[in-house]
Amino acid sequence: MNPFKPVKTAVIGCGMISDIYLTNMTGRYNALEVVGCSDIKPERSAAKAEKYGIRQMTNEEIWNDPEIEIVVNLTYHTSHYEVSKKSMLAGKNVYSEKMMAVELWEGEDLIKTAKDMGVYYCGGPDTYLGAGLQTARQIYDSGMLGTAVAANIALVRGYHHERYRTDPERRFAFCPGGGIIFDMGCYYLMGLISLLGPAKRVCGFSQIREPDSRRYMHPANPEYGKVMPIETTNNLAGTIEFANGTLCNILTSSESIGFNSYMLFGTEGQMDMGDPNNYGDIPVVSTKASRGIQMPLTHAYTDNSRGLGVCDLAYALRNGREPRCSGERAYHMFEIAHGIMQSCETNEIYQMKSTCTRPEPFKPGCTEYPEMAMDI
Ligand SMILES: NC(=O)c1ccc[n+]([C@@H]2O[C@H](COP(=O)([O-])OP(=O)(O)OC[C@H]3O[C@@H](n4cnc5c(N)ncnc54)[C@H](O)[C@@H]3O)[C@@H](O)[C@H]2O)c1
Repeated sequence: MNPFKPVKTAVIGCGMISDIYLTNMTGRYNALEVVGCSDIKPERSAAKAEKYGIRQMTNEEIWNDPEIEIVVNLTYHTSHYEVSKKSMLAGKNVYSEKMMAVELWEGEDLIKTAKDMGVYYCGGPDTYLGAGLQTARQIYDSGMLGTAVAANIALVRGYHHERYRTDPERRFAFCPGGGIIFDMGCYYLMGLISLLGPAKRVCGFSQIREPDSRRYMHPANPEYGKVMPIETTNNLAGTIEFANGTLCNILTSSESIGFNSYMLFGTEGQMDMGDPNNYGDIPVVSTKASRGIQMPLTHAYTDNSRGLGVCDLAYALRNGREPRCSGERAYHMFEIAHGIMQSCETNEIYQMKSTCTRPEPFKPGCTEYPEMAMDI
């Protein structure tokens, strides 16, 4: 008999990423019981409801169902604030995909709303809970790299495929609150927060290069053939000073072809952490003694484990502890990205106002019963 009462959960937003969430949350994470899903495009929620054997619902039906404890917000980033806020006002705990909102004040308001309502707001990404970055955390905490002195993020991708989408509202790559620093930079920033803790101050330079160079390319898109305007920075170089003294360069560009580098440099060694958008990239460590050691993964969740942060929230709710993907951390990461953007506009260094703690690492091992890594 399972003494743990699974947490009734519903998904709002049935687009591209909902499939892997629903696959994992219905088939893999025992802590969750997915009840239903909704979308402003009802044909999308109908298709997912049928595929995963759950109820097709409206947003309002989800908010009004007293049994549902968690809402997973998988809408566009431009809908995140409204959907997360209404869900919390209805008494639901929220796990939202990145970014938490568009404007910084909206993020702040979501944290306040969670406090006022006595619910949890949690924010993605959760890839740093995967085997790759949990192993990296264990390596760093073991002292093998010495004291961290610097980190380097080089994140370059073209977003060329985004021109071929059918949905004109799907503009996260190019509209305010989106763009590569927010959309993809978040994986790298959250991974560094997990390793190094909070940031103290940030700055940057940015550009919008060739803002009219892309067109909608899919004939089924109502905007087909028209310019797909680029309204936010697509080429940015920033710097972050972490509170522990580590200095980090961050380059994000969506104006070239794909490349990524994610490095941590310590007094005794350095670690290449692969692509933090993945759950199971193997950390490669070089020390004074030897170079390029592929470190064995010490933790569970090596494959696409999206929904892991939701599962952790479910255990947090039942066990009376803080969820790892806490609103405090999601907001701090959001403020780092906003702070860099603000510095680009003002030519001034941005002093961080929020802070956060490092999340509790998962227990190593537990590969046979991976949910044991959380704290049951
Ligand atoms: N696609 C990916 O590879 C990926 C990976 C990781 C995270 N994410 C994040 O997940 C979120 C969703 O991404 P996606 O790629 O699935 O986007 P998508 O555009 O494919 O789907 C979003 C869905 O949300 C629905 N929606 C929008 N506003 C709504 C509202 N108010 N109420 C109900 N439904 C609403 C839309 O109709 C759409 O079906 C984004 O925050 C994105 O950053 C996406």
